Amino acid sequence: MFKSVGCSVCHTPTINSTQPSGVTPSLGGAAVSAFSDFEVHHMGTGLNDNVSQGTAGGDQFRTAPLWGVGQRIFFLHDGRTNNLLTAIRAHASSGSEASTVVSNFNSLPAASQQDVLNFLRSL
Ligand code: HEC
Repeated sequence: MFKSVGCSVCHTPTINSTQPSGVTPSLGGAAVSAFSDFEVHHMGTGLNDNVSQGTAGGDQFRTAPLWGVGQRIFFLHDGRTNNLLTAIRAHASSGSEASTVVSNFNSLPAASQQDVLNFLRSL
């Protein structure tokens, strides 16, 4: 469901692998399931904080890695919500690259939306 609605376009499930490790060899070359493309995206007027960092404008944010999101309490760059559904819906606003994906998510039956939330809590 996470993939079919398009969350994984930005929240890439697995990206590259760890470097070889002389300290803990078994952790070398391991897949990094960060659930992020580590790229900066336009996220729309709703998330815009008018703070520019480097060349990123106020509405541009790096895709938050979802690895461990089930253990976090506050979400989004300013910690504005502790509700995963609110965090997802906040992705959609004028100028956001995620608006279509959130619209796909909103079109899912309630049980499937819940499946996505349960998946996030498992990460
Ligand atoms: C266009 C790229 C893009 C798409 C598509 C996208 N996201 Fe995100 N996501 C982001 C960015 C960028 C952030 C960080 C926003 C911020 O910090 O305010 C984020 C943040 C989040 C967070 C908050 C994580 C945290 O620790 O604060 C959650 C949860 C999340 N996304 C879930 C989803 C889900 C579920 C979907 C699919 C319905 C989705 N995202 C689709 C780019 C995307």
